[in-house]
Amino acid sequence: MPFVFFETFGCQMNVADSDLLAASLASRGYEKTDASGVADLIVINTCSVREHAETRALSHISQHAAHKRHGKTGQSLWVIGCMAERMGESLKQKIPGIDRIIGARNFETFLLELDEHLEASGALGMSHASIPDVSRFVPIMRGCDNYCAYCVVPQVRGPEKSIEAAAIENTVRSYVDKGVSEVTLLGQNVNSYRDETTDFAALLLRLHDISGLRRIRFTTSHPKDCSEPLVRTIAELPKVCRHVHLPVQSGSTRILSRMNRKYTRDDYLRLIEMIRKHMPDADITTDAMVGFPSEREEDFQDTLSLFRQVRFTTAFMFIYSKRGSTAAAAMNDDVTALDKKGRLRELIDCQTAITKEIYGEMIGTTMSVLFTMRQDGGDGLWMGQDNGCKRVLVACEKSLAGMILPIRAEKSSGMTIVGKRE
Ligand code: SAH
Ligand code: SF4
Ligand code: F3S
Repeated sequence: MPFVFFETFGCQMNVADSDLLAASLASRGYEKTDASGVADLIVINTCSVREHAETRALSHISQHAAHKRHGKTGQSLWVIGCMAERMGESLKQKIPGIDRIIGARNFETFLLELDEHLEASGALGMSHASIPDVSRFVPIMRGCDNYCAYCVVPQVRGPEKSIEAAAIENTVRSYVDKGVSEVTLLGQNVNSYRDETTDFAALLLRLHDISGLRRIRFTTSHPKDCSEPLVRTIAELPKVCRHVHLPVQSGSTRILSRMNRKYTRDDYLRLIEMIRKHMPDADITTDAMVGFPSEREEDFQDTLSLFRQVRFTTAFMFIYSKRGSTAAAAMNDDVTALDKKGRLRELIDCQTAITKEIYGEMIGTTMSVLFTMRQDGGDGLWMGQDNGCKRVLVACEKSLAGMILPIRAEKSSGMTIVGKRE
């Protein structure tokens, strides 16, 4: 039995792609392993969004290439994903030992070819029945057309393309048949989803009807496309989780305009108000960056004050990273490294305190938790998520995987809540 080892960097889209490839390889008899040393095939799925993401991937690829030269004979090393797209075949010159480069834009075609080949040899479907996951990522669109000035994604993932609603429904049904309880619909901007007949609200309605499916999540929502009718639909559908990930990027209207985000600070704040009017209990989370070209202290203070005003449940916060061939790469990267670091620290400290408060407010309440997996290393600790985005741990000897249970929140350890079954 051949073994495959996966290492996946980047966003959930990459996780979903790795899962698709793993399923396809499983049909060829490949079994997943956590030990790269015994693997016949090593797949590194890469991200290009920030320089740091690329540096990390490059160093891991180099390590695997070096082991391969000294280790098991016949091991293959594949590099896939966004950095594979951006750097292409030049990666092979940079790191000798890479056998195959599959860029993010060609990934779908590559998978189809792989499966066609299997169909011809009669191997398809042999061992698709891997571990029944509780929760699965389902890409509903690929690529992005938004060209935010700092972002490399439109170049490495190509133009925005929605997947047909019927195909998405089939995928979700097939997962549910295998025991999946929750799906997370993925796209760089799910709110602009549209096939010939179906927009995002209609897609949610359609998936909502699938019996056996218990929860629907989605990410990411671009503020410019998050409309009131859509929010109303989300609020009315009980299976759709009360969580909106709404990246703000900056609290300064001047910076937002230079970023090509197509909304102002006030637009964003009005949007938050509208979402909270329909779903007062929703978790709203965000992404933001500090140190975008020309960001002055007053711009950064606008981001800080927006964070204090909105009170996100959690946030991903980054230092701006210059990416070649983006519009912002032509701008003067004039914020000093020291200022960038200082601003990031301040923003993280501000958000950490807010997250702690919000989690603290849950103590004593009952949360409806879907359990997905046993916590690594934690004996008998089960991990789940409430109807929003809060992570909950519960001690239980028996498996709770796939169950939705009322859980009494007892204490909070910053980023997770520890609870007890009611
Ligand atoms: N499509 C999503 C985000 C994709 S990338 C959206 O529109 O929000 C995830 C996050 O990485 C972004 O929200 C942004 O905060 C961050 N990011 C993207 N490019 C970056 C860059 N060049 N430097 C720093 N952070 C970046
Ligand atoms: Fe990048 Fe903007 Fe597209 Fe998100 S919406 S992927 S930040 S270009
Ligand atoms: Fe995702 Fe990174 Fe590509 S964030 S889309 S894996 S560049």
